[in-house]
Amino acid sequence: MSLTESRFVIAIDGPAASGKSSTARAVAVALGFRQADSGALYRAATAARLRVGGDSADWSEESVLDAARSVTVHPADGVFEAWVDGSAADAELRGEEVTANVSLVARMQSVREWVNEKMRECAQIGAIVVDGRDMGTAVFPDAALKIWLVADPEVRAHRRSIELLGRIPSDDELARETGELTARDARDARQTQPADDAVHVDTTRLSPAEQVARIVDLARDRIQRSGSAPSPDAGGR
Ligand code: C5P
Repeated sequence: MSLTESRFVIAIDGPAASGKSSTARAVAVALGFRQADSGALYRAATAARLRVGGDSADWSEESVLDAARSVTVHPADGVFEAWVDGSAADAELRGEEVTANVSLVARMQSVREWVNEKMRECAQIGAIVVDGRDMGTAVFPDAALKIWLVADPEVRAHRRSIELLGRIPSDDELARETGELTARDARDARQTQPADDAVHVDTTRLSPAEQVARIVDLARDRIQRSGSAPSPDAGGR
């Protein structure tokens, strides 16, 4: 069995906007693994429930789980994408309304079980990089490599603002984004804890290329130690 066909799991967890998904994607590309973002599934369930309508304060757990039935996972170019009602909805998933309501949905135990099940299904197919908050603790406690990715809140807010606005944020915009990120960190605190055996990577002073290289090096070391032979091609991509 080649490495890419194996059940090799790299789990990247950390707080909001710590660069988990883009890092996970780049690490997966470098190693020829697939990638799945658990945050996208929580966002998709939230988007699906928002489409049904009504005040989120009144959402029952059953109604969210029911709406989540319209969420499907599609392997596209090595990335498992979360679709809503049969089509990709990336802008909607990243939008303000979903971001404002996703922590509420993520606190629902049956929704967490639904996401965890989908993530485990993705990992059945072959080697994978998964990212989120609790991948290395609750979902893949036996992952071969666990990364806890952190960065100072202001740096995270700066990166997120550039992503959202497409330009350098003003001081006010940066302050608002920092406040929103810190509030979301607080709302998600319960499920956002590093695994005891996670390697902590602080990206505050690292470029994206440096953080990816750091994790790829760690992964190659684990791969070598596990005795798996890396596939010469990009395997399941
Ligand atoms: O990573 P991202 O910001 O897209 O995650 C969106 C939300 O999904 C988080 O704010 C959190 O509420 C929830 N989440 C979670 N557990 C995960 C991944 C995401 O609770 N493993």
